[in-house]
Amino acid sequence: MSVDVREFERQAERTLGRAIFDYFAGGAEREVTLHRNVTAWGTLDLRPHVLRGIETAGTSATVLGAEIAAPILVAPIAYQSLAHPDGEVGTAKGTAAAGGLMVVSSRTTMPLEEIAAESQGAPLWFQVYLLKDRGWTAEAVARAREAGYRALVLTADTPILGRRRRDERNAFQIPPAVVAAHHRAVGSPSRLAGRDDGGLQDPSVKLEDIAWLGELSGLPVVVKGVLRADDAHACIEAGAKAVVVSNHGGRQLDSAVSTAVALPEVVGAVGNRAEVYVDGGIREGTDILKALAFGARAVLIGRPIVWGLAALGGEGVRQVLEELRASLARAMVLCQVASVGEISPDLVARMRANVRRLDS
Ligand SMILES: Cc1cc2nc3c(=O)[nH]c(=O)nc-3n(C[C@H](O)[C@H](O)[C@H](O)COP(=O)(O)O)c2cc1C
Repeated sequence: MSVDVREFERQAERTLGRAIFDYFAGGAEREVTLHRNVTAWGTLDLRPHVLRGIETAGTSATVLGAEIAAPILVAPIAYQSLAHPDGEVGTAKGTAAAGGLMVVSSRTTMPLEEIAAESQGAPLWFQVYLLKDRGWTAEAVARAREAGYRALVLTADTPILGRRRRDERNAFQIPPAVVAAHHRAVGSPSRLAGRDDGGLQDPSVKLEDIAWLGELSGLPVVVKGVLRADDAHACIEAGAKAVVVSNHGGRQLDSAVSTAVALPEVVGAVGNRAEVYVDGGIREGTDILKALAFGARAVLIGRPIVWGLAALGGEGVRQVLEELRASLARAMVLCQVASVGEISPDLVARMRANVRRLDS
């Protein structure tokens, strides 16, 4: 077991090779948002309680009714077979062993049914990019529903792909052996990752598509990629059951607001009408505690999962999730809170910017 999930990143950098490591690690343009996502959590100060007699903390949580060991979800990540031959199946097994929940990317390299069959009952959600041919999207959604996926996650921040300079410099292409299983049917798998989607994806996605997906599937729809109060409100009005405060790990619009800064404004707009999750730069239990104190119901973890998978397959994913869970539990005891439900906003010292957002 590593003492820091970042050790897996250093290991992945050594073993994956420059171009593949950069594909996973990189962000858009100058990578300002990529870096701020991480540092923003660190700039928030905690205000721990003392003398409450709390010796252990329980981390169990629920998201859209699914019970999980900790409020830590596995974010959708494309092309996981690039990191390890076990790919998404390895991630699903590791997630299950940690009592977690996995969001499977639309660009999974393994079929949805195979992942579900190997997931040992762990709850799964399916992330959706709407394709221009809605028939193909409808088919993928029907397969997800049939295979027992419990929610759809509509990614809203990708009308076009952000420019990833690292991939351009490396002239990176997804190797022919690695195919997006559910885009292959359309005959033109994405090769130039970060630059081109073979023109399959629909840039004209709108709020009405939330209801379309809900009616099509009968599943709750989560909208991922919301950074503003007004958009969060509009998504809930349009039928979303949850929103994910996310800037796609800094891979889309560079200089987009970091998620730690955006979260309070979105929570303020949503209130108790829907669940709010957050991702981007979350690497420690204290980051998770701060996100929950701001009102997130759970966090999603992206790159650290890939580094765990690259290092040890599913076992690495389990170790990353377990390390983050233990780190959250430790932070909770040190703040003297016994359960996730007791984590309250006053545990974070409000910076002026956050006070203004909360009050507006
Ligand atoms: C290599 C890579 C591939 C990704 N693929 C997808 C995807 O297919 N769908 C999606 O909604 N988000 C995708 N994301 C964004 C993640 O779901 C998540 O928002 C982000 O990684 C969280 O930030 P973190 O990596 O700092 O934890 C991807 C991120 C990375 C790094």
